[in-house]
Amino acid sequence: MCGIVAYVGPKDAAPILLEGLQRLEYRGYDSAGVVVSNKGLKMRKVKGRVADLAAAVPARFKGTVGIGHTRWATHGVPSDVNAHPHLSNDERVAVVHNGIIENADELRAKLEADGAVFLSETDTEVLAHLIARTVKETDSLEEAVRLALKRVVGTYGIAVLDAERPGEVVVARNGSPIVLGIGEKEMFAASDVAALVRYTRQVVHLEDGELAVLRADGFNTFASDARETAKEPLTVDWEAAHYDTGGYEHYLLKEISEQPDTVARTLRGRLDERFNVAHLGGLNMDARETRSFRRVKIIGCGSAYYSGQIGAQLIEELARIPADAEPASEFRYRNPVVEADTLYVAISQSGETYDTLAAVQELKRKGGRVLGIVNTVGSAIARECDGGVYLHAGPEVSVASTKAFTSTAVAFALLALHLGRVRDLSPADGRRICEGLRALPDQIKEILALEPQVKELAEKYADSPSIMFVGRVRGYPVAREGAQKLKEISYVHAEAYPASELKHGPLALIGPEMPTVAIVPDDELLDKNLTTLGEIRARGGRVLMVGHRVADPKLADDCLIVPKNEVELDPILLGIPLQLFAYHAAVALERDVDKPRNLAKSVTVE
Ligand code: AGP
Repeated sequence: MCGIVAYVGPKDAAPILLEGLQRLEYRGYDSAGVVVSNKGLKMRKVKGRVADLAAAVPARFKGTVGIGHTRWATHGVPSDVNAHPHLSNDERVAVVHNGIIENADELRAKLEADGAVFLSETDTEVLAHLIARTVKETDSLEEAVRLALKRVVGTYGIAVLDAERPGEVVVARNGSPIVLGIGEKEMFAASDVAALVRYTRQVVHLEDGELAVLRADGFNTFASDARETAKEPLTVDWEAAHYDTGGYEHYLLKEISEQPDTVARTLRGRLDERFNVAHLGGLNMDARETRSFRRVKIIGCGSAYYSGQIGAQLIEELARIPADAEPASEFRYRNPVVEADTLYVAISQSGETYDTLAAVQELKRKGGRVLGIVNTVGSAIARECDGGVYLHAGPEVSVASTKAFTSTAVAFALLALHLGRVRDLSPADGRRICEGLRALPDQIKEILALEPQVKELAEKYADSPSIMFVGRVRGYPVAREGAQKLKEISYVHAEAYPASELKHGPLALIGPEMPTVAIVPDDELLDKNLTTLGEIRARGGRVLMVGHRVADPKLADDCLIVPKNEVELDPILLGIPLQLFAYHAAVALERDVDKPRNLAKSVTVE
């Protein structure tokens, strides 16, 4: 999805902007552009990669203030002209924009009637014309931006330059992230800290409706009514090195391989051996309040939602509280009944997914108590929630979520242990879960050692037109995530079904051309699962079983055997070979593993 970078300071802006845009490439884009201010605005923009843009920027492209953008087309095709920045007709104002201006057509008609000449098909260009008109009247860029934004319906993160104010950049946010970076006599802004960490760790997140003026010597922030706001800088612990592939061929493989460490980081300091409980200080709830909830409702999108399904199962089993998960993108539109004795949990790796953020805002408006399980410290969802658990998994760059998915499931195990131990989970069961959690990092290492076998299996199955994934109860969300991973990075069609539902319809699809990946843990449902495998094999279907014991060759063609943990925690481990399976299938099919077509890392639009 689109990316924004801005710089103001003593240095040459273009190399900093280009480097920042490179750091945002992982989000997915189709064109890129930069503009710097130096006795007028100098702009270059191209359809294609940041490297193409860098090649188009001449040596004389000098200026110490500038803004840059990577565009992911929404209004108008990917092209040089539709790429951002967009200029006003007098070339005084330049704008880059993430998000969608919903009333762009109406504004465009009015501006055209007033003499504006539009060059692009984008919604963004209306902002350049609007701001250019007001800046002449107000002689203040921040006031011009504020007044222009009052006329706009939609979402935006923007950065604006005014050729007549060469020492400042104005940025604003509504539904699309903007982070300020504080340097030594220089200021940065970006839509993602990834673009900032090479230069500074001191950041300030803008809230929706806020606007900031950046100058080399500092910044000021304002609410939408022009009142100045006070902001405390935050120190981010993510480093530039986190954004390198670290010698791996793809970020995805790097992130899968990091999981022994990332899971250890999610657990660090949170398990208490004395009472066999989990310490989650960020929940901001005492034991009495923690006991008071009668339901848990979990929301998130895509893989975050599937990890929420694992979480719901963990909470029901360990804390005996009814729990369920729902896609945040559905929840927010169905006027949900919000109850005081329900604990709401929002999940997000990026902390910026618009549907999840909007669902949290709706919950808060109705008085719901919302916790966040979030990876990105200081992100919009984290700020909006009443409390929560950070994953500490480090930045996830590849579009497909892997380490954040696993760490979210681990965070749910901690939450379930915490909720359980203030209720009826016995100290002995608490100890069992604590020990199981502690064993995870080493067991993940054992699973990663299976990579050559998984690669061989992925290559064997990758040319199937479609693959069925099945699992029962605890295994069902694992199957869903396995199918999701395969679909998004290999483009092989995959369906996930509860194993118990197969005979109620989808069994009709099974035949030699449609293999099944079956999640078969060694739990109380083992026999039922083996019966399902028999039903598949009887229809000529091939079976790849992922579980704890090698199955009879009559039931499975191939078996991937992973280490056994406690039954409640097994789903956390069973998902990892499926990540490797999807990865190697995608490589075998020569897909763009880290940037699958049509997808973006964080979906900050509706
Ligand atoms: C995961 O592989 C997907 N790319 C996607 O489903 C993702 O999990 C979803 O968009 C939610 O993102 P978030 O965790 O950043 O909110």
